[in-house]
Amino acid sequence: MPDRSSPAATAPPILSLRGLFVRYGDVPALSPLDLDVAPGQVVTVIGPNGAGKSTLLNAIGGALPANGQAQGGLWLAGQDVSRWPIEQRVGAGLCLVPESRELFGSMNVADNLLLGSYRRHRRGEANPGDQLDAVYALFPRLLERRSQAAATLSGGERQMLAIGRALMAKPAVLMLDEPSLGLAPLIVRDIFAIVTRLKALGVAVLLVEQNARAALRVADWAYVLETGAVSLQGPAAAVASDPRVGATYLGRSSPAASAGVRP
Ligand SMILES: Nc1ncnc2c1ncn2[C@@H]1O[C@H](COP(=O)(O)OP(=O)(O)OP(=O)(O)O)[C@@H](O)[C@H]1O
Ligand SMILES: [Mg+2]
Repeated sequence: MPDRSSPAATAPPILSLRGLFVRYGDVPALSPLDLDVAPGQVVTVIGPNGAGKSTLLNAIGGALPANGQAQGGLWLAGQDVSRWPIEQRVGAGLCLVPESRELFGSMNVADNLLLGSYRRHRRGEANPGDQLDAVYALFPRLLERRSQAAATLSGGERQMLAIGRALMAKPAVLMLDEPSLGLAPLIVRDIFAIVTRLKALGVAVLLVEQNARAALRVADWAYVLETGAVSLQGPAAAVASDPRVGATYLGRSSPAASAGVRP
């Protein structure tokens, strides 16, 4: 079992990593790292290009490419899932919206959403599509466009569809890889508002972002990842006011004093 004395919260973590590391062939991409997500919490991992953010999410989701190898401890709701294949992890509620979104372009919005419940269907659940109304309530735009082919959606709509599809699997932990990538500022605001609403609905979110400012605003806890290692972590507000983060990630030249942040 993981160490339950999580810095993030007093509740036992829904997701715990202990000494997780990843290599691609012989090249290390992630140094052994520890990370916790408490139930209903938004945890963000910020860091520059190539830091290993996507590698981290793919390793947690069991979705590393063929040359990637993960080792170390990974617990979901207290259960050791480190050797589980991706199918089983998704089934247990660990869902990843990858950087590439991976929508089925020729299929319409409604069918893409239903595909998100496919694994629940295969497991023989009585109502695998029962999240559809909730997803349409969260994203009214998807309801309006339910008959439209995914390939013809705008960037923001595609991101909503990718998140909506993951929600159809009823995730315990939703992992989002750069959901704001390539989107206009107004749409970015909408996407982060959705993250806040998911948190209110009790979904724990692990959010990887280069948009540090927006991510730190919605998150409870933050990790800074640099060249495969955690260089800083703490409550999101404390990380946002840390001078190193201010100068490097928030474009601040005379940052406020830091508080409560651990190197
Ligand atoms: N399949 C792979 N084989 C070999 N090296 C890889 C592979 N995938 C990623 N890497 C390397 O691992 C490192 C981390 O990559 P990763 O994609 O995880 O970074 P990232 O933080 O998500 O970057 P970005 O912000 O650009 O998405 C990089 O040096 C990258 O070149
Ligand atoms: Mg990435």
